[in-house]
Amino acid sequence: MSALRRAPDIVLDGTWEFRLLPYEQEWKRVEVPDLWTMREKADPPHYLNIAMPFDEVPPAIPEPNPTGVYRRTVDLTPPPGRRMILHIGAAEGHLSAIVNGHAVGTSTDSHLAAEFDITDAVTAGPNTIELEVAKWSEATYLEDQDHWWQSGLSRTVFLYSVPEVHLADVAVVADYEAGHGNLRVTVATAGLDHLHEVAWSVRITVLGRTETRTIAPRLVEPAFTPPLTDRSKRPEPLGIPDGFMDLLSMRAAGASIAEDLRPVAEHVMASREKAGTAVLTLDALEVPAWTAETPHLEDLLVQLVSPEGEVVDAARLRIGFRRARIEGRDLLVNGERVLIQGVNRHDVDPRTGRIISRDLMLAELSLLKRFNVNAIRTSHYPNDPDFLDLCDEIGFYVIDEADIEGHAFTTTLAHDPRYLPEFVERVSRMVLRDRNHPCVIVWSLGNETGYGPNHDAAAAWVRGVDPTRPLHYEGAIAHDWHAGHAASDLVCPMYPSFEALAAFSADPRADRPVILCEYAYSQGNSTGGLAEYWRLFESLPGLQGGFIWEFKDHALDPDGDGRYRYGGDFGDEPNDGITLLNGVVFPDLTPKPALYEARGLFSPIRLTSGAEEAKSGTLRIGNRQTFADLGAYELRLQVETEAGPVGAVTLAAPPAAPGAETTIELPPSIRALLGTALALTVAVHTRQDAVWAPAGTEISAHQITMPRPLPHLPRATGTTHAEVRHPLLRRAPQLSLWRALTDNDQSFALDNRFVRAGFFQLTPIDVRADGATTTIRYRAAFGDEVVHTRTVTVLDEGDYLLDEQVTLPDIGADALRVGMEFELADGFDLARWVGLGPWENYPDRRAAALLSALEGRIDELAVPYLKPQENGTRGEVTELRLSGPAGTVRTVHATPLHMNVSRYAVSELESTGHWWELQPSGKTVVHLDIAHRGVGTGLLGPDTRPAYRLSHPEYRWQWRLTLSAAG
Ligand code: GAL
Repeated sequence: MSALRRAPDIVLDGTWEFRLLPYEQEWKRVEVPDLWTMREKADPPHYLNIAMPFDEVPPAIPEPNPTGVYRRTVDLTPPPGRRMILHIGAAEGHLSAIVNGHAVGTSTDSHLAAEFDITDAVTAGPNTIELEVAKWSEATYLEDQDHWWQSGLSRTVFLYSVPEVHLADVAVVADYEAGHGNLRVTVATAGLDHLHEVAWSVRITVLGRTETRTIAPRLVEPAFTPPLTDRSKRPEPLGIPDGFMDLLSMRAAGASIAEDLRPVAEHVMASREKAGTAVLTLDALEVPAWTAETPHLEDLLVQLVSPEGEVVDAARLRIGFRRARIEGRDLLVNGERVLIQGVNRHDVDPRTGRIISRDLMLAELSLLKRFNVNAIRTSHYPNDPDFLDLCDEIGFYVIDEADIEGHAFTTTLAHDPRYLPEFVERVSRMVLRDRNHPCVIVWSLGNETGYGPNHDAAAAWVRGVDPTRPLHYEGAIAHDWHAGHAASDLVCPMYPSFEALAAFSADPRADRPVILCEYAYSQGNSTGGLAEYWRLFESLPGLQGGFIWEFKDHALDPDGDGRYRYGGDFGDEPNDGITLLNGVVFPDLTPKPALYEARGLFSPIRLTSGAEEAKSGTLRIGNRQTFADLGAYELRLQVETEAGPVGAVTLAAPPAAPGAETTIELPPSIRALLGTALALTVAVHTRQDAVWAPAGTEISAHQITMPRPLPHLPRATGTTHAEVRHPLLRRAPQLSLWRALTDNDQSFALDNRFVRAGFFQLTPIDVRADGATTTIRYRAAFGDEVVHTRTVTVLDEGDYLLDEQVTLPDIGADALRVGMEFELADGFDLARWVGLGPWENYPDRRAAALLSALEGRIDELAVPYLKPQENGTRGEVTELRLSGPAGTVRTVHATPLHMNVSRYAVSELESTGHWWELQPSGKTVVHLDIAHRGVGTGLLGPDTRPAYRLSHPEYRWQWRLTLSAAG
């Protein structure tokens, strides 16, 4: 493994012959890269999180062991004087490479390339290359990540050749200090390290400067001089000073050495360069630093020059000057504390499984950049090398993670000496491959493999080879955040509670930065509390952000028909079902509302002033960035009113140094509108085209909300009537206490609390009418009593004023929603509301939601979580208007309500396994809740915080419902 990226001479992607043993003997044609699991019925994808898909213990290999044999012929004219290398980008499984019947090597890491020198196995003319990939091997136990088990050749395959004497590796340390770049390039060669005298040299060119160095020769090892036997003449003195033998230890001990002996000591002890290498340095370079905000790269050319002055081999690298270092409790980039606004990213493509095109990587990274994500953990294995090139170029901080997860055997593998070489090899090969990337600021030893000496061994190797980057390993600190220093320089817990973070931050023993390797668990409708995490990260010492779990749902759609599949859908048994539907984007990269929440929190700006200041004409803006000013952005301002946005103006973002705050004067036109407004919206747009977004792209929007005049409902003076009936109402408003349980609502840690309350079923047991007031006593599923009292005032034909009062049983219940549900007749398609949006929001996930007059098609209000559940709710709604060919229905709420307008009833969502199984529906089911529980992250992390739970027994509110049929 080396950091060199060789261009292919012959690309071997494309058609190969294939057969899957032991299931088929016949050859068929397939297209490489290929994961056979995505197309072979005999061995489909299998989803399991922790448990292995077979009942064996390391290192036993189960039977049958599906083995894909890939075979093809290639016509070669082996170039004389050159070595031919077979490169296999990634083989998922145990790879054996066979060329013309000769076994040329084996490899196991499923996410790193294997290269074999096949020079001696090839001949001129047709050559047969056979790549056998056995699904299971002893190494399988180290690849027990939480994703689909897939098998095949997932990255490119090609041939390249190098001259006999060639560059073997180039290791770059492009350091940045005090405004300058300092470069150290260590070049290793092949074919020269046996020479005692070397006339070859290496030349580097960067930033218009060139430096050349001769390759170090092999050391002449000293031989002991035999004792003198010839006493016939007086021997000539060699000039060896007295005490020579003591010099070595005295110098090493730092003892003082007599002045005249110092040069001798230095000469004796001078460190010798490694044979076959050259180390070149260039200091004090005038170069902008690389950061994720300012990803400045330079070209570095490395040339290997023969004694005749001929360039025999060369490498071109894109390098960035930066320093990532921990000082005390801070992770610093170029001396500055950076906040890690990261996501965990797996390689996943719904169509191909894990064959990731460069276009997809670019699309994913562009999307993340547009949502202000600045860091990626390559959970849980090294990604395609192109991925890191893109991170260098677009600007992301990367935790590069080794392909080690022994989740099913966390107590044994890290202690098992039989696995020691695999641990060290997996980590070291990743480091050797990726160490020249400025984006990689931290190495990770893997994920969830317990903690043991095998980790420490790998850590020691990395510390020796690359002392420039900190180490990360969650297992080392999992049981004690104060421990594990040998393997982790970060305290990098998973899914910690807010209280744990605050306590650790205040603990005098805390001595390392805290960066959460996983948090804000996003399975289904989730990611509640993200703003609370960020409140802590931005205010407490030693807390520096983290990586959301995770970027993308892993559902597969091999046929491309939109029927996204999860665990069990391929007949894969046993399985972990929907546990892989935890992305902040859907498999097709559509962002979920949770990502919009992150976008706002991660924005380069923060508004720090309030309504009063805005009314008096000023706006304070903080630059949240660490390195860049706000010059890349413009601000688009508009005033939100109940009738819609008005007064749009665009301003250049004010000059504000990183971390600084600045004040801008609001244009008088805006100021004049604020008196009766809902809010002032400040949207941040880019000003220049970038690879990741065209100029003008919105990257966040912020608001200053104005004191909100709540709608006045008419006094109850009309005729009274006890019932609400209307042709547009298929079901009249009635009490609803239940939402389609989210995945989090079903966390084992919540101990079935919602089901235990029994609010999913309300049976009226007593109805009493008293004039305009009706009191309904309901029995919940397990006998507890719920009382709903409603007073209806008929204001006009189809125009009702409703006074609601709900009393929940005093069973310490924690409810999901308290509100009214009704269903309209068919024929409604548009919704217009005054409230929060435009995207779905919940009480604990709405820091980035915007208050305005909004509009949308009812069909598009839903969020199609792949496993249907509660979705599409929007809070703080004072007015809702639904319209369509059937007519118009309007609701006005004196207290803002949570609205949900859906094509499906709660029960339909709860009983359906996949969103695509829901039948297209023209129904309009409306929920208007006075209280709605937050979503939390309770499945894996903190539950909804108490402030966003429903623990009060009494609710009272008033609303108006006006229905008018078309025509
Ligand atoms: C973590 C693990 C992730 C994933 C997640 C659950 O413990 O590191 O790989 O399994 O839980 O989705």
